[in-house]
Amino acid sequence: MHQDVQKILLTEEEIKDRVQQLGRQISEDYRGESILVVGILKGAMIFLADLVRHLEIPTFFDFMAVSSYGSSTMSSGAVRILKDLDKSIEGKNVIIVEDIVDTGLTLSYLVDNLRAREPATIKVCTLLDKPDRRTVDVTIDYNGFTIPDEFVVGYGLDFNERYRNLPYIAVLKPEIYKG
Ligand code: IMP
Ligand code: MG
Repeated sequence: MHQDVQKILLTEEEIKDRVQQLGRQISEDYRGESILVVGILKGAMIFLADLVRHLEIPTFFDFMAVSSYGSSTMSSGAVRILKDLDKSIEGKNVIIVEDIVDTGLTLSYLVDNLRAREPATIKVCTLLDKPDRRTVDVTIDYNGFTIPDEFVVGYGLDFNERYRNLPYIAVLKPEIYKG
């Protein structure tokens, strides 16, 4: 275990099993169709890479990067697009792949923004859902795990851009968050 980690919330094994289940479910739901997976950088990168290897349907990728103004552990709600999609999504079956839905502000912005581009369908897949802090209503179609209101890192998620490479989801020691 990394020296800055206080506890592991989800182990590599638990994540692996759940990601496989999600991949199977998505493959069943979209049987006979193709999908465009829209990964939200950078947090969803590792989840997306593992998830797509369990998809048994034609799958295309595109990516967006957004930043929400605010401190490192709180998002303010103002969302800015840092990198937009490469191509049009009109008429496509889009699945937004996120790392975590916290207040819901980022996802709500993304869904509205992408829906305006007239995809055939749009769904949301997130590895983690932290419902305790939700301030806007968002529909999550595929959720890996519901977690308590704690700031987590690993498997793509960061604290000040660190710890994304940890292979598990963990809570850091309190003194690390205090910086
Ligand atoms: P929301 O807009 O409040 O739903 O926040 C979504 C974004 O905040 C996520 O994509 C993450 O980048 C970040 N975030 C929220 N909670 C956590 C956490 O516990 N660990 C790491 N990043 C988080
Ligand atoms: Mg993120």
